[in-house]
Amino acid sequence: MKKINLNSEIEELAPDELDYIEQTLLSRAQTVAKLAYAPYSHFHVGAAVLLENGEVLQASNQENASYPVGICAERVVLSYAGANYPSSAPVMLAIVAQREGEEVWAKVSPCGMCRQAINECENRFQKPITLLILCNDAKVHRIKGISQLLPLKFDDFNP
Ligand code: THU
Repeated sequence: MKKINLNSEIEELAPDELDYIEQTLLSRAQTVAKLAYAPYSHFHVGAAVLLENGEVLQASNQENASYPVGICAERVVLSYAGANYPSSAPVMLAIVAQREGEEVWAKVSPCGMCRQAINECENRFQKPITLLILCNDAKVHRIKGISQLLPLKFDDFNP
């Protein structure tokens, strides 16, 4: 028997250790999270994406009375990017969340469907996407490429 161990690398930083564009992305995600349409979960998520051409786009989660119809912030912004900038690769994606009525930022981690959508973007443009996840007001996780969060996905299962 052979054992296969999977390792993921996550960089943990204080917000002031991020560079200017990283801080800008987080700040754009925080601003747009306040515009979330989340009357069912009361969980407001913001996602901001940096494209290769320097453009920054942002979006929030959009829920629906029929719950599964709702769309996560990450997929709203990546779909918008793909639809409007089909020639510019997304290179960085910042994700933040806040519970309605709270001041502090909540820990968020992209759901499985969003991980798959991020993977599709990486494949489409043949470029890894760096994720910035705000864990709380003092801690950010920087993750270089979706493979760190989605190992053994269909397209790279090659034992
Ligand atoms: N949500 C996101 O927008 N992104 C995530 O990474 C996690 C979850 C949304 C979906 C739903 O509108 C609400 O947060 C609660 O799950």
